[in-house]
Order: sequence, then structure tokens, then C-alpha cells
Amino acid sequence: MDQTGLTSSEKITLFSAWGLIRKDLDVHGRNVLLLLFHKHPRYIAYFDFTDDPNAQSLVDNKSLYDQAIHVFKAVGALIEYGFKDPVLFDATLRKITRRHKDRPVFSEDILTIGEVFLNYLGQALGRQMSDSLPDAFWKLFHTIAGRFPATPKTPIAAEGGDDANDPLPTTSQRQDRASDAPSN
Ligand code: HEM
Repeated sequence: MDQTGLTSSEKITLFSAWGLIRKDLDVHGRNVLLLLFHKHPRYIAYFDFTDDPNAQSLVDNKSLYDQAIHVFKAVGALIEYGFKDPVLFDATLRKITRRHKDRPVFSEDILTIGEVFLNYLGQALGRQMSDSLPDAFWKLFHTIAGRFPATPKTPIAAEGGDDANDPLPTTSQRQDRASDAPSN
């Protein structure tokens, strides 16, 4: 295992799943962001989607579409190139983290988008989703989350109430292992 935190077989699992997603990366990326905003509306306010001033809704907002492409290209860069080269993996991860430096994005938020993304993958891939994917996926997302600041203990992250009724994560994988990951 190298500093990606993944074994070779976990990398293959993620690489194979990503191969199915990358063909329509823009559509899948937008779907995941829309699902994130549907489930956790408080995140909408984090973004500036005004580059498409004529959009009637988030669904047809090309600025959101553009953002989704950037986010998913970044995840793809980690998987497609970073897995083969841990130093490159580290550099890509540093850049992702830096993009969020002045924004209130914390490790818990990365796990939240991860949860939405993994659920989406289950639906999009259906029977093509391998049994080993969830564990490998969570390892990757915990590694990403570990590079983000810890969620403040103050009520900041809990306020807003949009997702107050969501059940707390229940799977063992979803438990916060972010502190195990190296910090930058
Ligand atoms: C694996 C998880 C994530 C990845 C790979 C990622 C990646 C990126 C990238 C590459 C950019 C730069 C886009 C550009 O150059 O225009 C960006 C911007 C941003 N990200 Fe993330 N992101 C992730 C998770 C999140 C989460 C969970 C949030 C909070 C809800 C978030 C909030 C933002 C915001 C607010 C911006 C700036 C958008 C703007 O300029 O309007 N990101 N992200």
C-alpha cells in the first residue's frame, strides 16, 4: 500500500468503476451535484452559479454543469493518473484542497458528497457495481477528507436544518476515519 492508502486490488476496483462513469462524466457529475443539493440544500449557497444568468432552475444551469465537470475531472485525475503515481496523487490532492482553502468545506462535507456519490453509483452501475467497490470507495474518500480541515465542533456545520432529519451515517465505512489520513 502506498500513500494513496489503497491496495492494488482496491485501485483496480475503483479504476474499473470509474471507466464506466467517465464516458458520461459530465452527466453523472451534474446528477451527483443535483442530488447533493436536493438532499442537503444548504450547500447551494456555497456556490456561485451566476455564470448562466438565464437559467430557470438548477437543473438547466450551465454554471452548475461546468462546476460538476471540474469536480468530477478532479476525482478522475486522482483515479486515472494518481493511482499510478503516488506523488502525482499527492499533488492533485493538494491542489483540490487549496481550491477550497478559503471556503467552509470540511472533511465531513467530503464524506457527505461521498455518500451521495456512492448511492448514485449503486443506481447508475446497477449489477455492474462490484461488491468490493463500497469499501474501496470509502477508503479513497476518507483519504480525500483527511486532507480537509476537521469539521468545527461549534454548531456551524449543524445549522441550517435542511438535513436535520437525515439519519446519521450508519455504515461502518462511513464512520470518521479521516483522522487516520495524513494531513498536509
Ligand atoms: C471529492 C470532493 C470534491 C472535489 C474533487 C472538488 C473539486 C473542486 C474543484 C476542482 C474546484 C475548482 C473548480 C473550478 O476551477 O472552477 C472546486 C470548487 C469549489 N468547491 Fe469543490 N470539490 C469537492 C467537494 C466539495 C464540497 C463537498 C463542497 C461543499 C459543498 C465544495 C465546494 C466548492 C466550492 C464552493 C467551490 C468554488 C466554486 C465557485 O468558484 O463558485 N466542494 N471544487
